[in-house]
Amino acid sequence: MGASISDQLTPEDARWAAEIAAKLETKFAAERDREGSKIPYIAESGRYEEDMAETFPGWWTNGFWPGILWQMFAATGEESYSEPARRIERTTLDGVISAYEKLDHDVGFLWLLSAVADWRLTHNESSRVRGLHVATVLAGRFNSAGRFIRAWNELGREGWAIVDSMMNIPLLFWASEETGDPRFAEIARQHADTMLANVVRPDGSCNHIVCFDPLTGEFQEAPAGQGYAAGSSWSRGQSWGIFGFARAYRHTGDERYLDAAKRVAHYFCSQVALTGGIALIDFRQPAEPKLFDAIASCVAADGLIELAELVPEAERGFYRSWALLILHAVTEKACDFDPGHDGVVQLCSDKYHDGRIHVPIIYADYFLLESILRLQGRAADLW
Ligand code: GLY
Repeated sequence: MGASISDQLTPEDARWAAEIAAKLETKFAAERDREGSKIPYIAESGRYEEDMAETFPGWWTNGFWPGILWQMFAATGEESYSEPARRIERTTLDGVISAYEKLDHDVGFLWLLSAVADWRLTHNESSRVRGLHVATVLAGRFNSAGRFIRAWNELGREGWAIVDSMMNIPLLFWASEETGDPRFAEIARQHADTMLANVVRPDGSCNHIVCFDPLTGEFQEAPAGQGYAAGSSWSRGQSWGIFGFARAYRHTGDERYLDAAKRVAHYFCSQVALTGGIALIDFRQPAEPKLFDAIASCVAADGLIELAELVPEAERGFYRSWALLILHAVTEKACDFDPGHDGVVQLCSDKYHDGRIHVPIIYADYFLLESILRLQGRAADLW
């Protein structure tokens, strides 16, 4: 489906992408040598001090470092990247698979970028089995009354689903393709339909959390999540919506998902136009303090690249030029490419209230790397 973004670039854009890719390769080679199979998350004063493999092995972001390593392996063919990625998959993440009650809907983020990446890139059979195992866990979280996948495990949250899940359901599409069993993809479609009806607002902004009665499936409320307040517009939620619905379209061909991704993308671009490409944490936060989240920009840029590959030719330029504008903004205003420091993207924020603000967080680096490698036609397709 569609035309690869790498075939859509001008020679000048291609040169720029190659320059950024070279800086990222130098940086990630240095981080690989320092980190190996530790799992980094947030850098402090230029260092990843905490090893999440030790402190929080099941944390939802722990697939992004193996994901960076697999993307680097795909781009370079060097086993010095695949070896630590596979060690993480077989030690830390295998420990999490067996801790059943710790598994939630983020099994997609965790295993698509680790075991499923391993299977896709090296055809390692035991990695395929890990992927199918966690896909079964994700499918088992489906609530058939409300037609949604339950997000988290806390008591009282049996009826909660969140927009971020749109990036977890590619695990289900993969499992159906892999096994020939349509049930995984059917659950993914039903969940995407519920998200479409309840998460995406008419103006293209999104709710973060939606709550349903877990017995009847009836919609109850959309409370505040990681953004400013209920009814506001958490930018990273919007970016998950762009990429997630675009991916759902790629997997299903259902035009309603493409239209949703475009609607959310248009809203996102209209908002980052006001801040030069770097997203505020919440597009409806108070004017001061000006709090940014460059993760949202990186995820959205990747989603806009996805759209540029999926839409008809006459529409491609819009998504391509916005992806490039955002990536230029991130790399020029928010990045530290010094290989002596850990963490590339600096202006990352995990949530509006009581969160870590304007720090380097690992998954911005993942989505930046994936976007730049896609511009060069060198990325592995992991979603
Ligand atoms: N998926 C949680 C977050 O985006 O912070």
